[in-house]
Amino acid sequence: MKTLIIYRSFLGSSRKYAEWLHEAVPSNLIKFSKANARVLEAYDTVVMFGGTYMYRPSLLGYVKKNWKALQSKRVVFVTVAGAPEIDQVSVKVYANVPENIRTAVRHFHLRGKAGKQNADEVTKEKIQPIADYLLGK
Ligand SMILES: Cc1cc2nc3c(=O)[nH]c(=O)nc-3n(C[C@H](O)[C@H](O)[C@H](O)COP(=O)(O)O)c2cc1C
Repeated sequence: MKTLIIYRSFLGSSRKYAEWLHEAVPSNLIKFSKANARVLEAYDTVVMFGGTYMYRPSLLGYVKKNWKALQSKRVVFVTVAGAPEIDQVSVKVYANVPENIRTAVRHFHLRGKAGKQNADEVTKEKIQPIADYLLGK
């Protein structure tokens, strides 16, 4: 199983989580902008971390654009956001992902920080459920 971890991060939380996951599971780690369809070909698992901005997952365009290359793979889509997962805001944000993608990926939601807001939410332990899922635990 070859695993690629990609991230899109403006404020740093998605990058931090991606780096921690990379330390926890055998994988390669790159920025989303380098992960074109040809790069994706080499992997059977792709994990993506991206922040949430103005009610949209920042990797929404990327996942839609590359869905043809991704659809045959195990895809883990991690939304990083200010709001917690159960918040209606987060439910609304995730509903922006087309249904055919939503039903095919494994989704995780993690809280990120914005300046001092939620600063102590971003911890290494948060990636454990994702690592366990990838390692089949
Ligand atoms: C301009 C702006 C808009 C944001 N919009 C949302 C939003 O709609 N929903 C949400 O839950 N969080 C929102 N956030 C919080 C970010 O998702 C959060 O800070 C996250 O950690 C960003 O990911 P990054 O650190 O990887 O860039 C927003 C933050 C900023 C600065």
